[in-house]
Amino acid sequence: AEAALSDGPLKGKRIVITSGPTQEPIDPVRYISNRSSGAQGTAIARALVALGAEVVFVSGPADVPPPEGVQLVRIETARQMLDAVQAALPADAAVFAAAVADWRVAQEATSKMKKEKGALPTLSFAENPDILATISQMTEGRPPLVVGFAAETDDVIANATAKRLRKGCDWIVANDVSVGTGTFGGADNTVHIISDRGVEDWPKMGKAQVAERLADRIAGALRG
Ligand code: CTP
Ligand code: CA
Repeated sequence: AEAALSDGPLKGKRIVITSGPTQEPIDPVRYISNRSSGAQGTAIARALVALGAEVVFVSGPADVPPPEGVQLVRIETARQMLDAVQAALPADAAVFAAAVADWRVAQEATSKMKKEKGALPTLSFAENPDILATISQMTEGRPPLVVGFAAETDDVIANATAKRLRKGCDWIVANDVSVGTGTFGGADNTVHIISDRGVEDWPKMGKAQVAERLADRIAGALRG
């Protein structure tokens, strides 16, 4: 593990980052989740620590171990993730790399659901809070820099540009996760940075390189 720069460009800056999937319980033994490995969020947190930032790492159950040198907050559900992010504020920046489940099961069963003759279960859903939109639209105490992600399979730039405006964040890191790109669970990522200055296309690179370049850009923005 590389040592944090005690005097790096992000020294004295506090940054909150969400990472990994969320798990939404159906009953005590079952849940709904997604294929996020947590790799990209973990790499970003590591890169921010390396530049000297104080990082609060709010993570769902990921495949990869959390980075060293962060304040780790482990959560399972989207609602717990929102609570943890709010509790971590104020911050100089917030980076929302988590793959948050859009829906949760409306009525979590308190005991294990059992097979019954002829009766298939029907699940009804409720929408989870949108953590990125909630923080982006805070009227008081909003982090000065809010960065969201947009994993898209179609019309990547158009969808991500609309998403940035809808959520109210400063930057969107957009990536193509359609089958064949190997992004989910893979080592590489091809991203586009969307801001009020337009679209910046980055070449395909490793997730660690994406993270380092993003951390540099965050340091530049917080420097003013
Ligand atoms: N996000 C969040 N809370 C949610 C859903 C998403 O904070 N409940 C954040 C993600 O961490 C990401 C960004 O919002 O930074 C975009 O997530 P995405 O799933 O692409 O956006 P959605 O608004 O959920 O739209 P979609 O219907 O495309 O899933
Ligand atoms: Ca979503």
